[in-house]
Amino acid sequence: MRSIEYIELFEQLRTPFYFYDTGLLQKTLFAIKSAASLFNYTLHFAIKANANDTILKKISKYGLGADCVSANEIQKALNNGFVAEKIVFAGVGKTDDEIAYAIEREIFSINCESLQELEVINQIAVQKNKKVRVALRINPNVDAKTHEHITTGIISNKFGISFNDLQYIVCQRNNYQNLVIDGVHFHIGSQITDLEVFEKLCQAVNEILKYLQNNKFYVQHVNLGGGLGIDYSSPENQIPDFQAYFSLFNKNLNLLPSQKVHFEPGRSIVGQSGVLISRVLYVKDNGLQKTLILDSGFTELLRPALYQANHKIVNLSSAKGQMIYDVAGPICETSDYFGKSVMLPETKRGDIIAILSAGAYGEVMASNYNLRAPVAKYFSHEMQKITEDTLLTL
Ligand code: LLP
Repeated sequence: MRSIEYIELFEQLRTPFYFYDTGLLQKTLFAIKSAASLFNYTLHFAIKANANDTILKKISKYGLGADCVSANEIQKALNNGFVAEKIVFAGVGKTDDEIAYAIEREIFSINCESLQELEVINQIAVQKNKKVRVALRINPNVDAKTHEHITTGIISNKFGISFNDLQYIVCQRNNYQNLVIDGVHFHIGSQITDLEVFEKLCQAVNEILKYLQNNKFYVQHVNLGGGLGIDYSSPENQIPDFQAYFSLFNKNLNLLPSQKVHFEPGRSIVGQSGVLISRVLYVKDNGLQKTLILDSGFTELLRPALYQANHKIVNLSSAKGQMIYDVAGPICETSDYFGKSVMLPETKRGDIIAILSAGAYGEVMASNYNLRAPVAKYFSHEMQKITEDTLLTL
């Protein structure tokens, strides 16, 4: 992110806002598509990572499908150019209305997360007199070695179908007469940086596929979810090594020639393309530590408060001197910090601060707690236009 290039413009804009480098997004999309196409893998963008219309339109133009977790996300995907035949729908708590909506829209697959849900999908399909394609999301009990709040594939997590229930489904498969169960789905967690974890996932998937084949239960698609991490500590590593990631699956998965592989990346596509831009409201010094109070807080970017995530913090207005600061937001909560003991140039009221790597799970997790205003957003490809608009209002 070269947000420093835009500093003069940022200074004229009301903060806080998200700024997206859509050039970097295009480059990242090109990289992931090229790497996936080497192995004929299908991609569904995880809408939950960023549901911004402009971003979604750019991603759908690249031909990716969408991974959704609510009917609203399905609707959002359809409104932004994603085609129904490339939409998958996961989530542990789909309501009957959401299932009915997904069936009506004839999406690619409903990724079912429990035995009871499978029965409900079948009942709704019977009522609608439709055949519905379903994948079974299986909990493979593989530890993603990431933050516990974003670990989803160990047995104590609420996600996915247990092996016991899978055995039951395999035996009772003829009871689901309106379902075509032709896929399996796995997602073990997010911000995974230890690639060995994905090897473990492949071993677990191979065993499950073997079990299914031994029981003459054939699936056509194998969906490995998302999870590839980005480099928060060195955001200059803008594009993750997609080739290494996909090669690992190609090397370790034992598939039948007819089986197609799908992925649902979110963070790795959009993470580095977004920054949160704020102003310093106040600089406090209590004799023990200096604290910068920004005009954005966890209502704009929740990740540091919720997952103790470290986003790099940069002062775009000043490069002089060095000082250690705690960097806090304005929200009336003690957890409202972006960083503690952060080394920054000497910083004053009015300086523009960028919080990097905020393109994934940033804007989309914003809230209006403390009755905060919705956070604004700007895109690098629209900067010329904004310059003109801004000048007109001066
Ligand atoms: N597929 C499924 C079924 C998922 O649940 C997720 C993310 C993804 C794909 C995309 O994973 P990614 O490629 O983005 O790692 N708010 C948290 C992350 C929550 C991830 C939830 N599931 C954060 O800010 O770190």
